[in-house]
Amino acid sequence: MEVKIYPDNILREKAENVKEIDDNIIKILNEMKETMYRYKGIGLAAEQVGILKKLVVIDTKMGNGSELIELINPEIIASEGIYDEHDEGCLSIPGYYGVVKNRKKYVKVKYLDKNGNEQIIETDEFLSVVLQHEIDHLNGIVFIDRMSRIRRTLFKKQWKKIKAKEAAKQ
Ligand code: NI
Repeated sequence: MEVKIYPDNILREKAENVKEIDDNIIKILNEMKETMYRYKGIGLAAEQVGILKKLVVIDTKMGNGSELIELINPEIIASEGIYDEHDEGCLSIPGYYGVVKNRKKYVKVKYLDKNGNEQIIETDEFLSVVLQHEIDHLNGIVFIDRMSRIRRTLFKKQWKKIKAKEAAKQ
């Protein structure tokens, strides 16, 4: 799997609910997990690899798999507070980090695990932001959309520089 890079149109699409957790879904989740580790990410939504299904993998420890969470049809069912301003990054916007406004501090997320059992995560830690970021992807939203207008303008300039640098390397 290759990660789709901004401004790829697929990042703007809405993902569909998974209706049946079959072998294909399990295979996609496994490949997403491998892709996330290969790119050294802490989260990956299926959209980012070109698949419009509500699937997300997260590992905030970025590595040995002990913290791996695989979410099918994740949905935020409650949220509260404001997470202080902080930088976010994204595998689809490599090399850029920016401050996002108004992330929630606490979220309660409902999802299905691989066995089709409903699970709930409640967190007010870093994982909360990762969950919001990944679930945004499923709705066609990337984190730069949530930055202030000024930051977005700056982003466009910086992104051009990042791309130019990359092109020069090749
Ligand atoms: Ni992302």
